[in-house]
Amino acid sequence: MNKRKVLLLGGGGFIGFAIVRILAGRGNYDITIADNFIRNQDDEETMSFIAGNNIRLIREDFTDPKQFNKLEEGYDDFYMLASMIGVNNTLEMPHEIIRVNTALIYNSLEWLKRAKVKNVLFTSTSECYSATTDVFGYRIPTPEEVPLCVSPIGHPRFTYAVTKMLGESGFLTYGKVLGFNCKIIRYSNIFGPRMGFKHVIPHLVERFLDNENPYHIYGGEQTRSFCYIDDGALGTILAMENQDATGDIFHIGAKEEITIEELVRETGKYFDYTGQYISAPTYPGSVARRCPDISKAERMLGFSPKVDWRIGLVRTIEWYIDYFQTKSQDGMKYFEGPDKFYKA
Ligand SMILES: NC(=O)c1ccc[n+]([C@@H]2O[C@H](COP(=O)([O-])OP(=O)(O)OC[C@H]3O[C@@H](n4cnc5c(N)ncnc54)[C@H](O)[C@@H]3O)[C@@H](O)[C@H]2O)c1
Repeated sequence: MNKRKVLLLGGGGFIGFAIVRILAGRGNYDITIADNFIRNQDDEETMSFIAGNNIRLIREDFTDPKQFNKLEEGYDDFYMLASMIGVNNTLEMPHEIIRVNTALIYNSLEWLKRAKVKNVLFTSTSECYSATTDVFGYRIPTPEEVPLCVSPIGHPRFTYAVTKMLGESGFLTYGKVLGFNCKIIRYSNIFGPRMGFKHVIPHLVERFLDNENPYHIYGGEQTRSFCYIDDGALGTILAMENQDATGDIFHIGAKEEITIEELVRETGKYFDYTGQYISAPTYPGSVARRCPDISKAERMLGFSPKVDWRIGLVRTIEWYIDYFQTKSQDGMKYFEGPDKFYKA
């Protein structure tokens, strides 16, 4: 039987590598990862999984268009996951977000002109709705068909969302012109082990381990929904492999909308925290409420998230505790906090 030939640009990342693990476990895929491991996520476990499962690795910076010559042609599926992410990055080097993400998108699209790929999936974000919900009051849970909108356009935080809007438009348009089957995924807060260190949950763990007291709850009244990585990765594969959907946009996320304060206190419970909590402002530009309407993915893809956020949270906390206590080379110094982005 012919194996399904799959390329994941950004396949060494958090979501990409979770997809790789699922596909490798199924056995009937010929997998290539293209990634520069910009977040230093090339740990021993990751690299030995790649070597042990006959996965091809092309380790290059794909903002350079010449690197695409190292890829083959005729992939069945191309997952486009590579991106520069992270709230801190948007605030500290927004020009790099624009450069890296635009180059990755443009180079991928131009490569697709000659690459003879059948199915393409581009990964976008619910950040594209920041002003849709906050300024125009569109409904939450938010369905895919609402307008994408950020405001103010010059805010560095929104550089990331703006590049994702370019990507959505670019992939859908090239898909129609070149005739590949294109899907867009808009994720909302996928979380789990190995998600990196610039996210809320690793930050919480780091600060509880550090016995922060009083414990700052940044933006506690804001809401999000948290989808565990196993569900997020499977939903992405379901979208990629669904032949009825073409030119479709899907939300992959969880339905339960919780406050950041609930998330913090649930994490505190794990640590038997008995100190004080105090409220503090979160990162500038942070949207007040966010929760995806996932009914389209449920109906068309059979997407059905299984892992309750509290269960996923414990798994994630335990992975990070282990990392901080046994693997971290440089001690805990990942959390910088939103305070520095406000003038005194
Ligand atoms: N995790 C989430 O909740 C979430 C939410 C919204 C959107 N997304 C999107 O989903 C995709 C995957 O996200 P993730 O959480 O796995 O992030 P991630 O940072 O773990 O994965 C991105 C991958 O892209 C790679 N990459 C970056 N620049 C590269 C370059 N120049 N050349 C080659 N590879 C490069 C990184 O090394 C990394 O492995 C991203 O496009 C992200 O914007 C994720």
